[in-house]
Amino acid sequence: MQKVRFTETVLRDANQSLIATRMKFREFEPILKELDKAGYYSLECWGGATFDSCLRYLNEDPWERLRKIKKACPNTKLQMLLRGQNLLGYRHYPDDVVRMFVKKSIENGIDIIRIFDALNDVKNIEVAVDETVKNGAIASGAICYTISPIHTLDSYVELAKNMQSLGCQTIAIKDMAGILSPAEAHKLVSSLKEAVDLPIVLHTHCTTGLGFMTCLKAVEAGVDVIDTAISTMSGGTAQPATETLNYTLAELGYDTGLNSDSLREIADFFKPIRSKALESGLLNPTVLCTDAKALDYQVPGGMLSNLVAQLTAQGKMDKFDEVLLETPRVREDLGYPPLVTPMSQMVGVQATNNVLAGERYKNVSKEVKSYLMGEYGKAPGAINEDVKKQILGDVKGIEGRFADTLEPAFEAAKAEIGEKAHSDEDVLSYIAFPTQAENYFDYRDEMAGKIYTYEFKAID
Ligand code: CO
Repeated sequence: MQKVRFTETVLRDANQSLIATRMKFREFEPILKELDKAGYYSLECWGGATFDSCLRYLNEDPWERLRKIKKACPNTKLQMLLRGQNLLGYRHYPDDVVRMFVKKSIENGIDIIRIFDALNDVKNIEVAVDETVKNGAIASGAICYTISPIHTLDSYVELAKNMQSLGCQTIAIKDMAGILSPAEAHKLVSSLKEAVDLPIVLHTHCTTGLGFMTCLKAVEAGVDVIDTAISTMSGGTAQPATETLNYTLAELGYDTGLNSDSLREIADFFKPIRSKALESGLLNPTVLCTDAKALDYQVPGGMLSNLVAQLTAQGKMDKFDEVLLETPRVREDLGYPPLVTPMSQMVGVQATNNVLAGERYKNVSKEVKSYLMGEYGKAPGAINEDVKKQILGDVKGIEGRFADTLEPAFEAAKAEIGEKAHSDEDVLSYIAFPTQAENYFDYRDEMAGKIYTYEFKAID
């Protein structure tokens, strides 16, 4: 019997895609034991936006959250998403910080780290992969899937081979925009299975409505693991439903290892959480709908809505069609970066500027300049040299890895935050999100103080 395993995303990606990562630990704590019993390959529960959200909105220590999940789920692998050299943000960190972050993530309970780079530049993932393997966890190399003339099957196969030689133990296809079609998924998974000797994982979103079909065709092509979300927190901008794919695949004779009774209980548990989010407006019903526009324009749905918002704010919606035509041209000039954050924003804003200014590259953001300098990594394709010259003049870009130009930063940050940090984990929180972490540390100290101090106020 052929096996297909499942990664449950309800605690991370579904939480992030549907309700802006606002689920508190105490809200999902009661279901952790059941999640641990359900038979998942892994639970994606950390990294991505969860870390920022814990500190910024939820007054939670992200590290403590991880330790508590680990304690409640000792039998299931815990998984996190990591943006390579950018860790959980959008700027590059020096290697000492990347290594310490990876090491501490594993020490605190992570078993699988899915590592990607927005440009698919392997130089930006190699340090994180190396440290993951060194610390005995599974490094999963993630390919950002995008559609462009240079992103051929061969280019993805080449990337997967590079990831294998870096030491990645699985290869994940990361289709953040939900634009991987069933037919392409079949071809891609088949090619990867042939080219590398590693389990292949598929991560997609239901945004355009392809998700379920894409998973099914990927399974037919031999994919080993699929990412799904429990039905009551699935669909739309999140993943396809766990139970639906479990039902379909079991009926087709695949061994999924999942326990249907557990899945029922988990779905029932999240139902009131979803209802509450719908009621409060935290969950906007439109993110649960199918939006097929991205299939026409081949840009992610989120990017289209950003363009509309930008143009509406400036009263220039009449320029929408022009901006839509300019977007692929800018992308081509920049060497076809995958349209994932932050590249999707950079390309979208530049296209808007080009149209509104009536002149191409008259107004250029500092991010696009840094990108052209090579500070984000190597562009997937050739950059338009005329455009580069127009923007940078004779300034030479950097050769090699941007992180190589950065000084070690962990010890300096430790000294800077001082006693407010109670551990190396705290120092890492501070490095990743300085203001949010410091606010959280103050809040924590204040709460701890409240137990022991009492303020007497005169009442006369
Ligand atoms: Co995702």
